[in-house]
Amino acid sequence: MASANDTITKLIRAAGSAAARESESEAEPEFSMAVEWPVTAKIGLGLEGAIASETHIGYVNGPKGRLSYCGHDIFELAAESSYVETAYLLLFGKLPTSPELSAFRAKLNAYRDLNPETLNVLRAMPVKQIHPMVALGAGVLALAATDEQANVTTVEAETEAAVRLIAAMPSITAAVARLRCGEEPIKADPQLDHSANFLYMLTGSKPSDEFSRILDVSLILHADHGMNASTFAAMVVNSSLSDMYMTVGAGIASLKGPLHGGANEQVLYTLEEIGPVDAVKAWFQKVRQDRKKIMGFGHRVYKAYDPRARILKPLAAMLAERNAVTKPLFEVADKLEQLAIEELGKEKGIFPNVDFYSGLVYQAMAIDTPIFTPIFAVARVVGWTARVLEYLQNNRIFRPRATYVGPVRVKYTPIDQR
Ligand code: CMC
Repeated sequence: MASANDTITKLIRAAGSAAARESESEAEPEFSMAVEWPVTAKIGLGLEGAIASETHIGYVNGPKGRLSYCGHDIFELAAESSYVETAYLLLFGKLPTSPELSAFRAKLNAYRDLNPETLNVLRAMPVKQIHPMVALGAGVLALAATDEQANVTTVEAETEAAVRLIAAMPSITAAVARLRCGEEPIKADPQLDHSANFLYMLTGSKPSDEFSRILDVSLILHADHGMNASTFAAMVVNSSLSDMYMTVGAGIASLKGPLHGGANEQVLYTLEEIGPVDAVKAWFQKVRQDRKKIMGFGHRVYKAYDPRARILKPLAAMLAERNAVTKPLFEVADKLEQLAIEELGKEKGIFPNVDFYSGLVYQAMAIDTPIFTPIFAVARVVGWTARVLEYLQNNRIFRPRATYVGPVRVKYTPIDQR
């Protein structure tokens, strides 16, 4: 009988083959290998089309719906790699050798447990009232207090802080999740790998190999994604030579919004709101009539099916088959996808994005909905820090302009004459 691991790898490989087949006819988009500054670009609202930097880290091929990290295709990494190895690739630009990977793992292990100062900050917060992303941000800033090098903005010091944040953000998220339920945070288990340990710290029990692998795959899929809003926010903050903790805090703040990482949580609420599968059509028509957006659909860059959703969908389907709560929600999601693609796919290039199925995967693993976006942050911290470190090597402060369209030379009116 095939092991859970083999089954997951097979699903990923099948999704990769389908992606390759379906995007065969799509022309490879042109992209230049080097930018000649200053660059001429047509810029839309929301900086659409603007080029902020050159990078070797990741490439999003929007028309074909492909994604790669340092040249490695995402389907290949999801099938073969681990989150820790992928994190090393993104941070250091190459796959690690065996000793390099062991040393990186050891370093992450050494940074996992939260110090009392950070735990005190988390305990002092009204975690049941605030969004876990707010608590995660506070926990990250609290970490800075116990880093003597927190204010040093050399590549070396910021790299060390990055590794510390990659290790500690799952622990902060797990502590926040537990405190929200009135449970005590628990210590890391050094025998467990990154994702297995994260699940262990969240739930208090050792996870199955299947759940650990699926979470690991999901973290790989969320690790980096071009110049998205949170990455840009992080880069803008670090470009003033602030520090890595404030930088990652900015990434968390931006990711929280429902147009970005916060969409994964909103998708679950949408699916619950729709109700039974035969209510999907009427719900969809009403949303279209009201010109509202459907969470988990659309993307600034992808005008094809998001490759990450191609992987998460079959994983969600597999888990939903065995979960009575997730199964009906998956059926609703599947129907909604069908209707949305029929109406918006060809015409507007709107397809499910990474956030559409990730929540169903987490729900089937018994993770609370408000923790979905922090999981995104736990993964994306690698992309934020890798890109910030790359930019830091040839740093120039970000400083775009706004076009002033207000009045000029307005005379000051004393308060009693207004
Ligand atoms: N549902 C319905 N229509 C949509 C959607 C959607 N989810 N997304 C875009 N559109 C329509 C939009 O109404 C507009 O139509 P029209 O041209 O008729 O005015 C057109 O598509 C362009 O939309 P836009 O908002 O200008 O596109 P954008 O590139 O500024 O925004 C987006 C990209 C992801 C913010 C947007 O698609 C959206 O709000 N999606 C829902 C939220 C979501 O799922 N976010 C997660 C993004 S992927 C993971 C991540 O990076 O966080």
